[in-house]
Amino acid sequence: MAEHAVLFVDDEGNILKAVQRLLRNEPWKVLTASRGSEALEILDQTPAQVVVSDQRMPEMSGVDLLQAIRERRPSMVRMMLTGYTEMNVAVEAINRGEIYRLITKPWNDEELKATLRQAFDHFDLKEEIKRLNQITREQNLKLQDMNRNLEQKVRERTKQLAEKHQELRVAYIQTIRALAEAVDAKDPHTYGHSERVGVYASKMARELGLPKELIERVYIAGLLHDVGKIGVRDEVITKPDRLTREEYAEIMEHPEIGARILQPVAFLSDLIDCVRHHHEWYDGSEQGYPARLRGDRIPLPSRIILVADTVEAMSSDRPYRKGLPLDAVMQELHKYSGSQFDPNCVDVCLRLIEREGEAFIRKDQKFDIDAFLEV
Ligand SMILES: [Fe+2]
Repeated sequence: MAEHAVLFVDDEGNILKAVQRLLRNEPWKVLTASRGSEALEILDQTPAQVVVSDQRMPEMSGVDLLQAIRERRPSMVRMMLTGYTEMNVAVEAINRGEIYRLITKPWNDEELKATLRQAFDHFDLKEEIKRLNQITREQNLKLQDMNRNLEQKVRERTKQLAEKHQELRVAYIQTIRALAEAVDAKDPHTYGHSERVGVYASKMARELGLPKELIERVYIAGLLHDVGKIGVRDEVITKPDRLTREEYAEIMEHPEIGARILQPVAFLSDLIDCVRHHHEWYDGSEQGYPARLRGDRIPLPSRIILVADTVEAMSSDRPYRKGLPLDAVMQELHKYSGSQFDPNCVDVCLRLIEREGEAFIRKDQKFDIDAFLEV
């Protein structure tokens, strides 16, 4: 802390001498000036915390001097020496100079020392408050800076997480497609069947106005609907002739086998029932399997997939026949609407075929589920 100094201003030399004598043993530097202009010169060179000025002086009055000091050094503690009778001067001094105390002449020595001590304390306290305010401001700025950095970091991390999430999602879909291809590879005549069922089913799901999450589930379930065929003997699956009763029973197990394959995979648990019931008949009749569920008891993705599966199978070439024309496919859908098929699913499928024509069943169409969901 800077050395404490007080400046006394009085045109009477005796007063200045008396003050110097009085404060000789105090730990303060005592400066003196006999005129206002001299006082201002001293203050330009020597920092003092307290000024005590007489009022009546030639050239510049005490009130004018204290006002000038207030403008130049606002933190300085200003006091005025006045006679008892100069009340009007006291009021003016307070109003214009914002002075700390009035000291009346003649003064009491001990009171004057105590007042000066308080004045220095007052100055020190205000400086300390200023210093603390400054520290608070600086820390606030630092904090704002750190917050900005933190926000930036959070944004970067969020972006990285989103990218990782997207990578995982792509890997997830690729894995499922690989599994679907493994199923289709058992029979050279069904190459691409599962993928196309997934595509047709997704389009139908969107036409039904289903939410994106459900459309995606329909797509994945479409890819995996026949995953259970992995557990059925190849010669049964690829047999070009009519199946025997036993062979047909074996084929009929594929939905249950599919459900069992998906069972241990936690992130595919939503799909288990969709796969298990993709051969149920809408009317609950016994041609449906494995549970002979009926109507709304059959999961909606399964009802959609059954229609998509039929459209894909009928319109594709088989060793014993060419793919059927769209008219025949549409007739089949009409014929079994309400018995094998959910009429709503038939309606949306027919609407799509009418709208898209042959393009709906084109074999080489590229499909990206994420791009599809964005539209
Ligand atoms: Fe199937």
